[in-house]
Amino acid sequence: MDSRCQISPQGPEFSPLIAGYWRLMEWGMRPQDVLAFIEQHSELGITTVDHADIYGDYQCEAAFGEALRLKPSLREKLELVSKCGIATTAKPEHVLGHYLTDRAHILASAEQSLKNLHTDYLDLLLIHRPDPLMDADEVAEAFTALHSSGKVRHFGVSNFTPAQFSLLQSRLPFTLATNQVEISPLNQTVTLDGTLDQCQQLRIRPMAWSCLGGGRLFTEPRYQALRDELEAIAGEIGAQSPEQVVYAWILRLPSRPLPILGTGKIERMRDAWAALSLPLSRQQWFRIRKAALGYDVP
Ligand SMILES: NC(=O)c1ccc[n+]([C@@H]2O[C@H](COP(=O)([O-])OP(=O)(O)OC[C@H]3O[C@@H](n4cnc5c(N)ncnc54)[C@H](OP(=O)(O)O)[C@@H]3O)[C@@H](O)[C@H]2O)c1
Repeated sequence: MDSRCQISPQGPEFSPLIAGYWRLMEWGMRPQDVLAFIEQHSELGITTVDHADIYGDYQCEAAFGEALRLKPSLREKLELVSKCGIATTAKPEHVLGHYLTDRAHILASAEQSLKNLHTDYLDLLLIHRPDPLMDADEVAEAFTALHSSGKVRHFGVSNFTPAQFSLLQSRLPFTLATNQVEISPLNQTVTLDGTLDQCQQLRIRPMAWSCLGGGRLFTEPRYQALRDELEAIAGEIGAQSPEQVVYAWILRLPSRPLPILGTGKIERMRDAWAALSLPLSRQQWFRIRKAALGYDVP
C-alpha cells in the first residue's frame, strides 16, 4: 500500500489511514494533549483527519482547532475533512433531529467549520447523509461557491446510494471525490449493493467508517465466532492483532477503501498501520465474511 493515496482522479491526496475525531470529546484531552496526538499520528503517516460539524454536540472541531492554534504550521501538513447536512437537538433551535442540505446551511456550516478548526480552507467537505429534501441544484450552487472562493478544495458525500451520488454529480462542474460509508465485517451492506461498485467504476476510493463496529466487534459476546476466526487468520498471516486482520479485510476490497480509525490511542493507530502490508487470500476474506454473517455464500 502506498504511503499517499490519490482518492479519485481529480481528488486530493490522502494518507492510507485516516484519523477520525468523532469521539474526541470522550478522550478527555487538553489542547496540548490533542496537539501531541495529532503530531504522533502525523509522524506515523496518518495526516488526513475526519471531522463533522455535529461531532461531540458541535464541539469537536473547536477542540481540535484549539490544538492547531498552538502550532499553526501543522495545518499545512494535514488534510482536513469535514461534513455538514445534519441538524441535531444539541442546538435548541432544532426541535428534532433532521437533515439540512439547503444552500444557506451548507455555506454557513462550512464557514463555522473553518472558524472552529482555525484554518482558511478545508481539503474536503462531504454531505453527511442523504436528505429526502435534498435539492441537488442547491447543493451544487453551495459547493460551487465554496470552491470558487477557495474555502473548500474538494467535495464528496457520505452514506449515499449510487443513485443519490449520480444525481448530485450530474449537477456539478467538478467530480465528487469520495463516498464515505460504513464498512466492517459487522456491516457488509455496501460490498454488494452497488455502492462500492460505483466507486470502483469511477475510480473513487471510499472512506470506511466504523471498521470495528465502533468497538462492538471486540466487546459483544455475540461476535465470539468472528473474533475466533480473526485470531486464527492473524496466526496464519503473521498479524499481531485481530484488528489488523479487520483492516486487511477492508483493504482487500477492490475499490481500495481508506479506513477511518476511531481510536484515541496512538498504540492502536501504530497497530493499524502495520495492517497496510498484510496479505489476505480470497478464502481468508470469505471466512471472515462467513464468521460475521453466520452463513455461507449461496
Ligand atoms: N460518515 C459517517 O456517517 C460516520 C459515522 C460514524 C463515524 N464516522 C467517522 O469514522 C470514524 C471512526 O468511527 P468509529 O469511531 O465508530 O470507528 P471504530 O474504529 O469502529 O470504533 C472506535 C471505537 O472502538 C474502540 N476500540 C478500538 N479497538 C478496540 C478493541 N480492541 N476493543 C474494544 N474497543 C476498541 C475505540 O476505543 P479507544 O479509543 O479506547 O481505542 C473507539 O471507542 C469516526 O471518528 C468518524 O470520523 C463517520
